[in-house]
Amino acid sequence: MSTASAPVPSLPLWLNAELTYRCPLHCVFCYNPTGYAQHTEELTTEEWCSVLRQARELGTVQLGLSGGEPLLRDDLEEIVGEAVRLGYYVNLITSGVGLTQPRIELLETAGLHHIQLSFQDSTRELNDFLSSTRTFELKRRVAQLVKQYDYPMVMNIVLHRINIDHVGEILRMAQSLGADHVELANTQYYGWAFQNRQHLLPSREQVARAEQAVAEFRAQNSHMKIYFVVPDYHATRPKRCVNGWGTTFLNIAPDGVALPCHEARMLPGLEFPNVREQALRAIWSSPAFERYRGDSWMREPCRSCPEKAKDLGGCRCQAYLLTGDAANTDPVCDLSPEHARVTDAVEDASRGHRSLPLLFRSDENSRRLLAARD
Ligand code: SF4
Ligand code: FES
Repeated sequence: MSTASAPVPSLPLWLNAELTYRCPLHCVFCYNPTGYAQHTEELTTEEWCSVLRQARELGTVQLGLSGGEPLLRDDLEEIVGEAVRLGYYVNLITSGVGLTQPRIELLETAGLHHIQLSFQDSTRELNDFLSSTRTFELKRRVAQLVKQYDYPMVMNIVLHRINIDHVGEILRMAQSLGADHVELANTQYYGWAFQNRQHLLPSREQVARAEQAVAEFRAQNSHMKIYFVVPDYHATRPKRCVNGWGTTFLNIAPDGVALPCHEARMLPGLEFPNVREQALRAIWSSPAFERYRGDSWMREPCRSCPEKAKDLGGCRCQAYLLTGDAANTDPVCDLSPEHARVTDAVEDASRGHRSLPLLFRSDENSRRLLAARD
């Protein structure tokens, strides 16, 4: 019997449709699974539209279209049009590659509400290095298009050891491109980012300097909204990941696998249903979605912790990656007996310890990692 202290909303309010794992960029911090090359099948247009209809019937209101790069889907406009017709608020999450003037015009006609554009850095050199592409100038042109078509200018920059010292310049670049909202997203260590963690984890000093730079910029530029929170590995309490497993967020992978978060498909012992085989309503109450709902699954120290309703024990995927068991307390928490796994990783990275090469996301590297696992 569940003793859930946090009420479980009965709806997946937020649907994230990962339309494809294909991507023209090769970012070292990508959160897609490192084994994505084995999942090449993609839902058809009709299947995506069916997912959208079913989720609306469940009460979903927010739709994120992401990937990979969603613009690689030729049917993106059709999917956007159907989503708008159904009453979603639709957000396109893109690198900008493929967002030409004819395309943005079609998307606007289809009713797209919001575009979130990513940059890797404020300098061409680092932007292009981190994505292993020449895309910096293209992104700047896309930013102008986004403004020209009167979309709010929402920029996303993933921060890590290699670019975090540029935070001030990044904010000034965002300002010069007319950004209304900037998300300085500290790297979450999953997927390719976990693989490259030794290279990407910033030191405590870097994080403190970045906080200071953000505070100074904010003080002088109150019109631009800046989102910046202390990265997990530098915190002492975990975040309430995806607002709690199976409470609010529903992720559909390109091949139709339904997940309570972006990363869960790597968790062993859970069978995630596929929208090709089950209706969303059944999926939402399937055993995999029930597994970490509420708090009855918790072990100590979470089980008897007075803070458990706040963070629900943190992130299940982080707990698995760092301790080997998704039911453990997220070791970001300093009450976790395994908290040293986090602090040691930060210390190691600060000392410059590197035993693995920096690995760019690519089909070839994905297949190599898959072969090494077998
Ligand atoms: Fe949260 Fe668990 Fe830490 Fe308590 S022990 S603060 S519930 S992660
Ligand atoms: Fe899976 Fe946090 S990313 S629960």
